[in-house]
Amino acid sequence: MQFIRFSDLCANGQARGKRVFIRADLNVPQDEAGHITEDTRIRASIPCIRMALEAGAAVMVTSHLGRPTEGEFKPEDSLAPVAARLGELLGRPVPLVAKWVDGVSVEPGEVVLLENCRLNKGEKKNNEELARKMAALCDIFVHDAFGTAHRAEASTYGIAQFAPIASAGPLLAAEMDAIGKALTSPARPLVAIVAGSKVSTKLTILKSLAANVDQLIVGGGIANTFLLAEGFPIGKSLAEPDLVDEAKAIIAMMRERGADVPIPVDVVVANEFAAMARANKVPATEVQADDLILDIGPKTAAQLAGIIAHAGTVVWNGPMGVFEYDQFAGGTRTLAAAIAHSPAFSIAGGGDTLAAIAKYGIEKDIGYISTGGGAFLEVLEGKTLPAFEILDKRAAA
Ligand code: 3PG
Repeated sequence: MQFIRFSDLCANGQARGKRVFIRADLNVPQDEAGHITEDTRIRASIPCIRMALEAGAAVMVTSHLGRPTEGEFKPEDSLAPVAARLGELLGRPVPLVAKWVDGVSVEPGEVVLLENCRLNKGEKKNNEELARKMAALCDIFVHDAFGTAHRAEASTYGIAQFAPIASAGPLLAAEMDAIGKALTSPARPLVAIVAGSKVSTKLTILKSLAANVDQLIVGGGIANTFLLAEGFPIGKSLAEPDLVDEAKAIIAMMRERGADVPIPVDVVVANEFAAMARANKVPATEVQADDLILDIGPKTAAQLAGIIAHAGTVVWNGPMGVFEYDQFAGGTRTLAAAIAHSPAFSIAGGGDTLAAIAKYGIEKDIGYISTGGGAFLEVLEGKTLPAFEILDKRAAA
């Protein structure tokens, strides 16, 4: 995959005095009063904005916030709180511009935030007229919104088709580099950890990874369906019996090419799903009819940690058990520590995974932590994201 790096345009002076339109993903969570409760995405967008300002560009930044009705402004859909936080982080005021599609006044060395781009009619459906108007606002379009890279909307895709230059910002470029390193040309063995409550939500990911990885570690409710497929008792644990055949097919496909899906040899069970539940560690063969499997057992965790220690690359999505409760956190904690200590290049993504990384304080030990939720999952599914496709096309032209 090829793409123009905005950092190169800045380094060789091509951004000086130019109008630069940055599509960021500033879609942050807010509480009922509109206060931002988590600002990672805003902080992640700062390097690109600084880069553009330092290169002497006139900078316009936009993002979506939530899923508003196009053409109907409501105060809760406004990027005003984001403009204020951006201003704090940049140490300068960031004016918010409301109706901006037909023209934006901004000088080199200045930055403005353009109001929620999903308020524009035609944004979601990638309307060509809207995309052309946006493209006309700038000399250089910068896609720096990895969290929205799986959407083909006017401000993410159409504008990239029609802007004079379409480039990848530093955040998007870092994501593209990390994904390439982990999935396109990985150091082997390539180990993927796919966990979560249901096989059904991650079936495409499991199938896509099964064709590529050397070890496919399953955890959470997904592991229960695989235990069922291998003939183990799972009591009243969460599982999807109708997907047992799919699980069997994945195991067979992996084993046929000398790869493996390690099945837990022991598990942690309880009689109820509760913070106060008593946890029992039992061999996978001895799960009772009224047991709920809520984590992998210590033997399994140690075995998996050994696999991770010898990996060349680790892709991590999903916790191994109910790690929010300490008595069911052992599997996730052991694997997190194994990933942190492994010399393998690691890439992690997904909301629960990021929460586990934060809980065990291993942010600095992960090779790359993806900012994308749905976008990261679509990459794991083996899809080419629209953002990657159009930037590749524009770089080739
Ligand atoms: C996200 O929060 O995953 C991204 O900002 C994409 O948002 P969307 O699902 O509303 O397109």
